Amino acid sequence: MGGQETNGVADAIDFPPQTEDIGLAKAVPSTGGPTLLKEVIGEKVRDAIPDEKEKCDTQVEPQPQEGVAQIEKEDNDQRFGSQPTVTLNSGRKIPLLGTGTASFPIPPIEDLKNAILDAMEVGYRHFDSAALYQSEEGLGVAIAEALEKGLIKSRDELFITTKLWCNNACPERVLPAIHESLRKLRLEYVDLYLIHFPVRLKEVILDTTCEKDDILPLDMKSTWEAMEEVHKIGLAKSIGVSNFTCKKLTDLLAHAKIPPAVNQVEMHPVWQQQKLRDFCIEKGIHVSAYSPLGAKEWGFDVVLGNALINDIARAKGKSVAQIALRWGFEQGVSLIPKSFNKGRLKQNFAILDWQLTEEELQQIGTIPQKRVATIPEFIFPDGMFKSPEEFWDGEM
Ligand code: A2P
Repeated sequence: MGGQETNGVADAIDFPPQTEDIGLAKAVPSTGGPTLLKEVIGEKVRDAIPDEKEKCDTQVEPQPQEGVAQIEKEDNDQRFGSQPTVTLNSGRKIPLLGTGTASFPIPPIEDLKNAILDAMEVGYRHFDSAALYQSEEGLGVAIAEALEKGLIKSRDELFITTKLWCNNACPERVLPAIHESLRKLRLEYVDLYLIHFPVRLKEVILDTTCEKDDILPLDMKSTWEAMEEVHKIGLAKSIGVSNFTCKKLTDLLAHAKIPPAVNQVEMHPVWQQQKLRDFCIEKGIHVSAYSPLGAKEWGFDVVLGNALINDIARAKGKSVAQIALRWGFEQGVSLIPKSFNKGRLKQNFAILDWQLTEEELQQIGTIPQKRVATIPEFIFPDGMFKSPEEFWDGEM
């Protein structure tokens, strides 16, 4: 496969026909989850608001980048039917509405498979997984069964993301790690491969339960070169990062021959990531919003419990989750809310045939901001990251 062709983003947004609106006036509360890492993912887009969409379409022109191979032109335009998509700087399209597969404690493969098949039946085609979540195997089984049942005709109808865990964040371990992920996914390639965190951990650390000495210096340049190799040999159609600040992206871009296509970060109305999104737009990096419902998986209710969002939801006859997701959608980011409940999967998908008013958007813009997923597991007062501020380069 060819390399990524530009460092620009050519947004081509397709809008699907009206989705079933199940019109929930109130969010269905969930039991939340333990405080383990939960995963979840800008350009400016406003559906049905021509001037904003036009802005988006013209915002970042693809610019040829010296030394970067031209991507093979594949027929990647029709892959996702009428789903809204944007085109990444790799030339590949990403569906804006996806779903997460992280759940802690790790569910049985059968439960995961059933949730993914439910999501495919609802219409989801973009699935976010990670080595950390141990969800690749269940996703692989679900994809195989979806093909067998005819739920999808071809693997190409899916956009599959997985991530390099921190224990493999060194150059010689990247290729074996993607091969292992592909084996579990039963796939020949992923659509997107991300460095999960700008952190390297000792090889034996398979999750976030680590001691300070388990955190090692990350050689970003050589690790990214290995990621570029993964892309060049066709194992990942696009490569990117997750949990990168503006500072870390700047460091990465200084070395990268292939710029990251995506930065997947926590983003929701209570942590809107305006600075990072502006930076990413400037650099042609698509933002994908994880925890778009507010890191609910960690047991917080900062979004679904937010009074203003609840008021807007009541006034519009939508669920609180739908307001949060629609807000994210109108920012032009891709969204990967996790749900293993078919009703909520449908609810989260039904955000395309209505919109927030200017006033509602302005109101949401006034919500006090707070990073929820601070990832305390990596912070040690005498370790490499002494405080959340240090870990997040002050972008709190
Ligand atoms: P469940 O899987 O039982 O639906 P996030 O992606 O922001 O981390 O949020 C995921 C959490 O939010 C999960 O606990 C999920 O539980 C719950 N959730 C997903 N969709 C909704 C919804 N529409 N309303 C309320 N909770 C939701």
